[in-house]
Amino acid sequence: MADTNQSIHSEWSSRFAFILAATGSAVGLGNIWKFPYITGENGGGAFVIIYLICVAAIGIPIMIAETMMGRRGRQSPINTLKVLTKEAGANTNWHYLGWLGVIAGFFILSYYSVIAGWSMAYVVKAFTGSFSGQSALEINNLFADLQASPGVQIFWHTVFMVATMAVVARGVQGGLEKAVRFLMPGLFILLMLLVAYAMTTGAYLQGLEFMFKPDFSEITGASVLTAMGHAFFTLSLGMGAIMVYGSYLPKGISIAKTTILIAGADTLVALLAGIAIFPIVFANGLEVGSGPGLIFQTLPIAFGNMTGGWLFGLLFFVLLVFAALSSAISLIEPAVAWCVEHYDIERKKACVVMGFLTWLLGLGTVFSFNNWSDVTFFGATIFESLDFLTANLMLPLGGFFIALFAGRVMLSKDSKEELDLGDDRLFDLWKFLVSYVAPAAVFIVFLHVLGVFS
Ligand code: PFF
Repeated sequence: MADTNQSIHSEWSSRFAFILAATGSAVGLGNIWKFPYITGENGGGAFVIIYLICVAAIGIPIMIAETMMGRRGRQSPINTLKVLTKEAGANTNWHYLGWLGVIAGFFILSYYSVIAGWSMAYVVKAFTGSFSGQSALEINNLFADLQASPGVQIFWHTVFMVATMAVVARGVQGGLEKAVRFLMPGLFILLMLLVAYAMTTGAYLQGLEFMFKPDFSEITGASVLTAMGHAFFTLSLGMGAIMVYGSYLPKGISIAKTTILIAGADTLVALLAGIAIFPIVFANGLEVGSGPGLIFQTLPIAFGNMTGGWLFGLLFFVLLVFAALSSAISLIEPAVAWCVEHYDIERKKACVVMGFLTWLLGLGTVFSFNNWSDVTFFGATIFESLDFLTANLMLPLGGFFIALFAGRVMLSKDSKEELDLGDDRLFDLWKFLVSYVAPAAVFIVFLHVLGVFS
């Protein structure tokens, strides 16, 4: 049945197109904004090693599972799960897993777009020379001003959402594929340029040492779990983004090899971002562990004080916007694909509706930093609540069930046929990781976010 099942959304034109798109989804604010600051907060090298192990042992097997399920089901995650459940003769409730993903993507995009909007605002700031010669306090004030202004944030949030939906509306080959073809290579070139700059700062080796010389005394139970949670977020796992991209993957392409390539590219970008950022941080005497504000509150100080800094600042924030855009399109694609299938409406219409709803919810994040900063749920602002709910609860939960579905519910003969690994031992290894190791690891993340270990 699955063999003859064609995606109504058309397919990627080549394996390379899929690699670009899935890498575009994986590489985003998570790599360039989040990875450096959590690495900074968790002491560097040892944290990086644990994160790498998590990507390899948990992330890659689940990524293979998601891509494989998408390609076999050939539809939006919700309907893919319906198809696969039928094929396996399993309980139909599994399709709610698709819903969990659609809702998580919608929630994540609502705040992701606001942060991407900050990056857009910083492109303009860099271009107009706002950082030049500014002190740390003045740079801090620049960021505080942005946070205090709902109008400016709404403007950039709107620009980002319109750009995202314009790309998604053009469909698999017209929009998604063309966009990432241009975004991904541009991103690599810009990152290499920044790394080249980092080499001239005088603190390059110090930066490398921080990132790669492990000091396990810095590691706590919480940082192991943070590293593992980040492996999910950075690889876009647990919500169907990779599953829906997998559904556009033509038959006959090796899922395992392709996935390893994508996870490798994602990891490379995160490491390159760290290699570019830490020397700049050290050379300017900035604080590695300054938290989520790291790039917005501290890097502009460096950009403002270096020769040609406006250009490096401009390149850096352009890069961040590009990376965010190619992730954003995958965050909303499961919802748009489902709307098209379920209501039989045009992609454009689905985009307008979904885009508007996401934009509306994003206002909650914008106001979290100003007018509604005292609106809290269990002490967390709207933004913090959305972030907690998605990154800490929904993605791990989604990943847990996806792993169980691929490993325990799908029939071995079906997953084996779809993966076509050639070597049975490799298949057995994947099945073991996805059936036991990954769910157990996710369970630990889950206990952690419920506060069991804190
Ligand atoms: N992987 C993206 C990043 O690192 O920024 C974020 C993301 C995209 C998470 C898509 C989840 C997702 F489904």
